[in-house]
Amino acid sequence: MQNIFQIAAACLHGSDIDTKLELTHSAWKMHRAGDLEFHSRQPPLAIAETRFPARPVLCDPRKMPRRKLTSPAGMLAFYHAIAHIEFVAIHLAWDILYRFRGMPQAFYQDWLRVAHEEAQHFTLLREQLLNRGCDYGKLSAHRGLWDVAEDTADDLLARLALVPRFMEARGLDVTPGMIDRFRQIDDQQGVAILMRILEDEIGHVALGSRWFSAADRHGERSEGG
Ligand SMILES: [Fe+2]
Repeated sequence: MQNIFQIAAACLHGSDIDTKLELTHSAWKMHRAGDLEFHSRQPPLAIAETRFPARPVLCDPRKMPRRKLTSPAGMLAFYHAIAHIEFVAIHLAWDILYRFRGMPQAFYQDWLRVAHEEAQHFTLLREQLLNRGCDYGKLSAHRGLWDVAEDTADDLLARLALVPRFMEARGLDVTPGMIDRFRQIDDQQGVAILMRILEDEIGHVALGSRWFSAADRHGERSEGG
């Protein structure tokens, strides 16, 4: 029987992309087979121990080039940008699971499912990059998505308020417009991927709201670090 928090630590504290994805999918399979235990043995390490790959290089969002979807370079930049959002989202799901202890087991199971879904989203988008002769990491990416995780590392209510209920909810608002743009340029694979992401993210926002209310009601503010 493997321990969920040890797998979370391995995923967060290693920098290799494929290892992170394999750990995420195998944790989900183990959970489905009843082979995961959810008791925490050691307190979480500080959020500064989280590791990201050396590439993509992270840049100030204001300095990122703006490109139109109508050019091949614009399509690549767009797929790369949303692949990056999904890649960081894998870490956001693992981190909320890893950092905030003493919650009911359902909390950990819910965020494990989110991590698994975010890893699937990332893989779908990465395939689109690979089909176009690119890979995740070859272009620069938006710095700052992880800042909100660092800023809320010791406050579960703030984390739930800012990540699923604000950042992801804002994603729900912009995704239908992106789907329309993909329809206009007749990228049916892109449309299908974004529809799948939208459907899953609606579930993630709902989970965030449910756990926000539960944590708020019970005054549960897990100690993080
Ligand atoms: Fe996602």
